[in-house]
Amino acid sequence: MKNKKYLAGKHFVHIPGPTNIPDRVLRAMDKQIIDHRGPEFSEMAVRIIDNLKKIVKTKNHLIIYPASGTGAWESAIANTLSPGDKVLVYETGHFSNLWIDVARKFKLEVDVIPSDWRSGAKIELIEKKLVEDKEKKIKALMMVHNETGGGSQKGLMLPPGIAFNTVSPKALEKYRSATLPKYFWDWEMMIENNKNGFFPYTPAVNLMFGLEEAMKILNEEGLDNVFSRHTRLANATRKAVEGWGLEIFCNCVESYSDSCTTIFSPKGIDPDHLRSVILNEFNISLGMGLSKIKGKVFRIGHLGDLNEVSLIGVLGGIEMGLSKVGYKIKKSGTQEAINYLAH
Ligand SMILES: Cc1ncc(COP(=O)(O)O)c(C=O)c1O
Repeated sequence: MKNKKYLAGKHFVHIPGPTNIPDRVLRAMDKQIIDHRGPEFSEMAVRIIDNLKKIVKTKNHLIIYPASGTGAWESAIANTLSPGDKVLVYETGHFSNLWIDVARKFKLEVDVIPSDWRSGAKIELIEKKLVEDKEKKIKALMMVHNETGGGSQKGLMLPPGIAFNTVSPKALEKYRSATLPKYFWDWEMMIENNKNGFFPYTPAVNLMFGLEEAMKILNEEGLDNVFSRHTRLANATRKAVEGWGLEIFCNCVESYSDSCTTIFSPKGIDPDHLRSVILNEFNISLGMGLSKIKGKVFRIGHLGDLNEVSLIGVLGGIEMGLSKVGYKIKKSGTQEAINYLAH
């Protein structure tokens, strides 16, 4: 970048993914490649798949693709459906709309439950659609549970580059009759190869070194502790927003995300200008609003490898940024977050 001023200290990555990569994960990946058709790799792959099933709490097949999250969507579609099949999609936000695009590209008939993106999927609206579907034309329900999910670059604290499908027995049964074309994504080819720790094509070997270390870290902390840490840090973020006198984009408390908070920019302040001031002055990357909420909101990612102190640093940086762009803060949101976290 031209004329970029030198910023001392750590770069704070607080977009809703990719997230911070722990040093231990970076070190684990910093290794010479091994033969992906050799014994060391196959033992590692079997171990990783078994361990990852425990992390995502499934006993079903788990598939690891050398892909980003978008590939994992495409795979779920290509493996279970046939051209002309009807699918129901709940429009929870930007990424659910992209999934609709993928489904349409595959010539599926897409029935959309629209929403203003400001709350999660309402189960009663889904139920209504399914009850109305007397002829059982709807073959699949596609849902984004949280507007930041996707691949390895989120809660697994890895670089982007691997993405996952879990495959229930029912999904595997659908696979048998699905006629959409697939090769790279083909579940059976993967499942057969994975049995012996192999892949039908070259896997992302070094990312898998990292994945094994990331899972060790998650298990050392304990999954329940990981989840409660995320809830605490998300609550603290929301306290800060309230303190600043700003509005959270999500207007339904039960749908608040513990991984990302989207916030309306103060009246008259361009959120992308605010983000660039915060980046250039304080070395913090925040997320932008995507598609229809671009220019209206900014997003704070608070998932992955972070603690109270790193979050307070980020909130402090945002607070300074808000002042710099001329916003008169109601009261210190950072202090509100500290008060919450200190107890
Ligand atoms: C909910 C959700 N779905 C899908 C994606 C797309 O994933 P990727 O960018 O890894 O292809 C993302 C990425 O942020 C996401 O948050």
